[in-house]
Amino acid sequence: MLAIKRAKPEDIKRVTEIARESFPDPWSEESFARELTADGAFYVAENDGSLDGYIIIRSMGEEYEILDVAVAQSARRDGIGEAMLATAVSFAFESWGKKVWLEVRESNEAALGLYKKYKFKEVGRRKGYYSNPTEDAILMERQL
Ligand SMILES: CC(C)(COP(=O)(O)OP(=O)(O)OC[C@H]1O[C@@H](n2cnc3c(N)ncnc32)[C@H](O)[C@@H]1OP(=O)(O)O)[C@@H](O)C(=O)NCCC(=O)NCCS
Repeated sequence: MLAIKRAKPEDIKRVTEIARESFPDPWSEESFARELTADGAFYVAENDGSLDGYIIIRSMGEEYEILDVAVAQSARRDGIGEAMLATAVSFAFESWGKKVWLEVRESNEAALGLYKKYKFKEVGRRKGYYSNPTEDAILMERQL
């Protein structure tokens, strides 16, 4: 059974592992640990007791930004990303947020597919925003 829960300090090691298999420039353990107490919410997905994904949403007044989201490679395409995104967007909505936005690499078809399915709209582009490899960022947002 899938459960989306608030991250705890003991989850950080596994979260860092998932980030390492998901990104060329993953966050460090210390960066994840800082998010445990930042404004916003940090959730993990537990699938039959196994920690298989995480999402971090940051609050900036009425705006919320999805800072990071990843699912373990072995657990992808099974609805976990969508369940975590739904939880993060609900958190923003229940906190009186007006919109949620995020940036995504233009070649990241999986993430673009997930966000479009979850009613995020493309609203802009940042030229050459990412390095390693250099790539544009697509800016997306969902009004709440
Ligand atoms: C993006 C990511 C989080 C999606 O998580 P997931 O649990 O595999 O996604 P879900 O199973 O919930 O998929 C939800 C929808 O997203 C889209 N999607 C997911 N994977 C996709 C893929 N490989 N190709 C195209 N669309 C995809 C589909 O619309 C899917 O709905 P469907 O299965 O009904 O077609 C995951 O691929 C991942 O961790 N990628 C590496 C890290 C990353 O890129 N994070 C985003 C940074 S902006």
